[in-house]
Amino acid sequence: SFLSMEKEPVTVLVTGAAGQIGYAIVPMIARGAMLGPDQPVILHMLDIEPAAESLNGVKMELIDAAFPLLRGVVATTDVHEACKGVNIAVMVGGFPRKEGMERKDVMSKNVSIYKAQASALEKNAAADVKVLVVANPANTNALILKEFAPSIPEKNITCLTRLDHNRALGQISEKLNVHVGDVKNVIIWGNHSSTQYPDVNHATVTTSGGEKPVRELVANDQWLNTEFITTVQQRGAAIIKARKLSSALSAASSACDHIRDWVLGTPKGSWVSMGVYSDGSYGIQPGLVYSFPVTCEKGQWSIVQGLKIDEFSRGKLDATAEELIEEKSLAHSCLN
Ligand code: NAD
Ligand code: LMR
Repeated sequence: SFLSMEKEPVTVLVTGAAGQIGYAIVPMIARGAMLGPDQPVILHMLDIEPAAESLNGVKMELIDAAFPLLRGVVATTDVHEACKGVNIAVMVGGFPRKEGMERKDVMSKNVSIYKAQASALEKNAAADVKVLVVANPANTNALILKEFAPSIPEKNITCLTRLDHNRALGQISEKLNVHVGDVKNVIIWGNHSSTQYPDVNHATVTTSGGEKPVRELVANDQWLNTEFITTVQQRGAAIIKARKLSSALSAASSACDHIRDWVLGTPKGSWVSMGVYSDGSYGIQPGLVYSFPVTCEKGQWSIVQGLKIDEFSRGKLDATAEELIEEKSLAHSCLN
């Protein structure tokens, strides 16, 4: 029958689901923006006790929206129940920074959450669960989750820098007045913080005359080497200043992009940025969750190899790695 040809539902966990990003992302997932328009989903939503009533309200709205792909909703404050059988875990739960703070200023509050939830995932999730950490400091939370969930393969634990990647595409598209979908292969290196390095040295734009390097089209190295970089690095802070709240719709949309490309693959000839456990590529020491250019195929990411790194870039790749080393030791001291 028609029904027997349908795909089995995939179970997606969203932690912090009563928060801003949670409210933006659950309808995207239920509409197929994360796993495709033919993939049924079951949503597990976790939040903490003070948000329980509000979380239940989100569940009521999901029912009211009558999403055909949505085959079940669990709204709970029990982390073990939330993690049960999950195939994809989107870790948004935690506390956002406020105006004037750096993302690592929420470290002490958030890393302990990631230590605790690592064990819950390890015990209850599917053995091949794919984890995306969104909550800040995202790279270091992901590293802590990895360290405290040793049975989850390290390749399955990632953090979100796709938002920064998409911000970089957006800035180039605005500058050149071209469609954002025609810009590709920017890179975010390093930390999801103000030391990240948005790199356009390999980026191109599809034009009627073929693919052209962004550097050739912008023809303004001064702008690319200064204002472009700081705009992308500081975009999170600029959104907080403007909205008095941190980014939510763009974070949710980028998280869907991250999982979709990881699970369904990146288009031929293009890569994306993901925070992944370093294997030493580009001289970045193993033991850090660092954002690299990656391609994805059959549910596996691989770091794009062999890109030429000039001296300017080398300094920036190392500076953001340095910050991650400091964050790692700060995280460990918070947990002790
Ligand atoms: P929010 O405060 O609106 O929502 C966070 C939710 O997490 C709240 O409902 C809170 O009750 C819940 N929570 C707190 N502790 C929890 C726990 N132990 N278990 C489960 N839930 C818990 O915040 P938001 O705007 O949705 O942002 C969430 C996080 O994502 C923040 O840390 C923010 O800085 C980060 N963020 C990251 C990116 C990125 O690109 N990596 C982008 C935007 C926001
Ligand atoms: C962002 O980049 O928008 C988020 O990490 C939120 C923040 O604190 O900047």
